[in-house]
Order: sequence, then structure tokens, then C-alpha cells
Amino acid sequence: MSYELITIRTEADKVGIVTLNRPKQLYALNDALMDELGQALKAFDADPAIGCMVITGSEKAFAAGADIGAMAGYSFAEVYRGDYITRNWEQIRSIRKPVIAAVSGFALGGGCELAMMCDFIIAADNARFGQPEIKLGIIPGAGGTQRLPRAVGKAKAMDMALTGRMMDATEAERAGLVSRVVALDKLMDEALGAAIQICDYSQLATMAAKESVNRAFEGSLSDGVMFERRLFHALFATADQKEGMDAFVAKRKANFKHA
Ligand code: CAA
Repeated sequence: MSYELITIRTEADKVGIVTLNRPKQLYALNDALMDELGQALKAFDADPAIGCMVITGSEKAFAAGADIGAMAGYSFAEVYRGDYITRNWEQIRSIRKPVIAAVSGFALGGGCELAMMCDFIIAADNARFGQPEIKLGIIPGAGGTQRLPRAVGKAKAMDMALTGRMMDATEAERAGLVSRVVALDKLMDEALGAAIQICDYSQLATMAAKESVNRAFEGSLSDGVMFERRLFHALFATADQKEGMDAFVAKRKANFKHA
């Protein structure tokens, strides 16, 4: 499969890396790019050798949002009938293996939303997050008004959505939007390190952990806890649970077979 607006590669034969590749437009996200991103993530997800994915951009920008030039001419009939955003952006929600966003530079509008659709964000110290759609006479359209308040709380989410201001990496970490902040030149090492660590665990367990944490954002606490309990119970049916616990008891490294 060849791509024009993204590049893909694997690291350590087990991490799938997608690099957004539209530098002239600061990685603005158009339909073609989102189609390619969805295809690449799905292919990695289906590959048994891959245990984790990383999405990244460049030093200057992760992505500066949905493509404003393309959107400028859209009509209601077009976006509604064509199911703009839902049609291809949400493919990432169906990915079952963990996906890390490695963010440097601008992550604005749809770029911030794409990062938030990933399972967690590792940011470089030059990262800047924002939902500036208000300046364009619109609102965030890829989940920003929903995922941002869940990540940083109502006060900051309202502030960001209503003023369109940016949050730097320090504020983003303090607010809980990103899990780690590292020096720019260490960003990919940090993201790869986390990804390789995840790949070395049982894929069944990492998929279950992702599914269960995501459940915390939908439904009640008691339903979420019950969902977690059932997945927890189910993992006792896996060979990897036996291997993980036998290895601990025998004081050796576990060798998971993802079965
Ligand atoms: N769409 C299309 N093109 C974009 C773009 C976008 N979102 N963001 C940047 N570009 C283009 C610029 O038009 C410019 O192109 P030219 O060289 O052809 O003029 C090029 O990328 C470089 O950008 P700047 O010259 O503006 O670079 P800068 O360093 O001065 O500023 C920036 C960087 C602050 C990110 C600025 O580009 C900017 O504000 N971009 C728009 C951010 C934005 O509003 N994002 C939200 C989009 S709406 C959305 O995402 C909807 C949704 O929720 C799904």
C-alpha cells in the first residue's frame, strides 16, 4: 500500500508509526489524508506482529487542524450528506490496539482532536494545543467539545473553546491533557520506548486495558466497573495470564504469545 499524505514504517518489527506528511499546509487534515490514516491504522491493527501504533507530525506541527481551504467552500448539504468527519475521522475509534500521539509544535483544532482520539499523548516541550475554531465562526467538529472537558475539566475546556487560546505543553500536562512532556529531541525516543514496552505485554491484556479505560467515558461508574470486572475475569482464560504470573513467581521475564 502506498500513501501520499502520510508515511508509515515499523520500528523493532512491532511498533507501527504513522507520520503525517503535508508540511506545506502544516499537516492540515483533509479527507484524503484522513482516508489514508484510517487505512494505515487498520492495516497495523490487523497485523499480528504489531502491538502498538504511534501517530506523529513534525517539529513545527502535529497538525494545524482540519483543512480550512477545503472547508471554506463546503455547504450544509455537502457536509451533512457526506457525513463529514464521521465518515473517515472516526475510523481511529475502531482501532483496538493502543495508539499513542507523539505531539510537537501545533496541535490545533482537528489536530488537537486527532491527538485526543489517540489513547494518550506524549508531548514535546514546544507542543501547543488549542481549539481555535471559534475564530473561524464554527465550533470544534471532531469531538473537541466532548473530549477536551473530559481531559481538562469544564473551566479550561470552555476557556479554550470560547477564546481559541493555545495551551503550552506545561499547562497541558498540568491539566491532564498529556501524559508526559519531554524535550523536543527526545520525543520519538520517549514515544517509541512507551510503545515497545506496551508491545512486550500480552496484546490481549493491552487491548482489554484500552477497552476498559475507554469505557470510563461512557455510561455509569457501576456499569464501567462491571465491564472491567468481566474483562478481568476473561483474561484468566488466556495463556498469557498463566505465563505472566508463572514468570513472576519464577522470577523470569514473561514471554507473552498473545493467546
Ligand atoms: N488548513 C489549511 N491550511 C493551513 C491550516 C489549516 N488548518 N493551518 C495552516 N495552514 C497553511 C497556511 O495557510 C499556510 O499556507 P501558505 O504557506 O500557502 O500561506 C501554511 O499552512 C503555513 O501556515 P502559517 O503561515 O499560518 O504559519 P504560522 O507559523 O504563521 O502560523 C498557525 C501557524 C498558528 C498554526 C496558523 O497556521 C493557524 O492559525 N492555522 C489555523 C489553525 C486553525 O484554525 N485550526 C482549526 C481548523 S478548523 C477545524 O479543525 C475543525 C474541526 O474541528 C474538525
